[in-house]
Amino acid sequence: MTSTERDPVSGTETTGHVWDGIKELNTPLPRWWIRTFYVTIIWAVGYCIAYPAVPLINSVTNGVLGYSSRAEVAVELTKAKAAQQKYRDKIAKLSLAEIRKDKDLFQFAVAGGRSAYAVNCVQCHGSGAVGSTGYPNLNDDEWLWGGNLEQIAITIAHGIRFDEDEDTRISEMPAFGSDEILTSPQINDTAEYVLSLSSKSTDGIAARNGKTLYAENCAPCHGETGAGNRELGAPSLRDAIWLYGSDKKTIVETISKSRKGVMPAWGQRLDPLTIKQLAVYVHSLGGGE
Ligand code: HEC
Ligand code: HEC
Repeated sequence: MTSTERDPVSGTETTGHVWDGIKELNTPLPRWWIRTFYVTIIWAVGYCIAYPAVPLINSVTNGVLGYSSRAEVAVELTKAKAAQQKYRDKIAKLSLAEIRKDKDLFQFAVAGGRSAYAVNCVQCHGSGAVGSTGYPNLNDDEWLWGGNLEQIAITIAHGIRFDEDEDTRISEMPAFGSDEILTSPQINDTAEYVLSLSSKSTDGIAARNGKTLYAENCAPCHGETGAGNRELGAPSLRDAIWLYGSDKKTIVETISKSRKGVMPAWGQRLDPLTIKQLAVYVHSLGGGE
């Protein structure tokens, strides 16, 4: 492959490769290109000396500058924590109402509460806190146990009918059927009366019979008018919001067997700061009082 032939037009040497009579010229690389190329090689060597670069069996070369992206993240994290600590200290010190009033603190608490909610509460109350059968919706303004900040915080810290917590919220609707307090026909009549409170009864006579039964057996907890009682966690029976269901079959079942929904106490599992943030978060969902 010796070729000294030169292209008569450009004066450039040819390589000796010929395709269909077209000869390949041996045009040298432009100077600027070659220089840039050398610069990148020098740069790469310099980089490998300065920064962690060459993989070894269990590690990498550390580089003379001692740079580490992990250390950088650690520094950032420490900074972020320090910035948060200011808020944490304040939240720990201030009352729920004061936290609610301070715009920055409020936002910080809601964000913290939201992430704690996602870890601890979604499995029962749902991702949008909309609840499901037996698990109350936390967005609406119907509250079993009360919807102000303090009440919500107590519910979260001590739970509901949660035996392991001494201060848990307790109240137990009797199982009127299983415990033989009422007979089946009486339960039927009481259920019709409960339905009549939200104008859904289909049996006027039964509903009228149920009225006295209700007054004797149910009013102490659910109230004379069925408005409910938050001291006892007894839901309103006259609105459109139902924990277990508004159809007759479900209501008969509730009266017969009772429900006794249990909510775990979080006071021992989560720190007081998180409980406060959760209370502020739940309160901010829409039904807070
Ligand atoms: C194991 C299921 C479960 C988990 C987990 C759970 N809850 Fe509950 N929660 C319930 C039940 C059941 C009730 C209703 C109890 C009743 O019938 O009174 C309830 C009630 C509540 C209430 C009272 C609502 C009202 O109307 O008064 C609040 C507030 C609440 N939960 C917040 C939370 C928060 C915040 C978390 C997470 C830290 C959480 N819950 C985790 C089951 C759960
Ligand atoms: C000792 C208080 C108490 C008495 C008495 C009582 N209840 Fe209840 N009731 C409750 C509580 C607390 C709940 C909340 C549900 C739970 O236990 O998880 C409830 C829930 C209900 C529900 C379910 C409401 C819903 O939203 O799904 C119905 C219906 C109901 N009661 C009807 C009655 C009727 C009818 C009587 C009388 C025969 C009665 N209750 C007597 C405390 C009581």
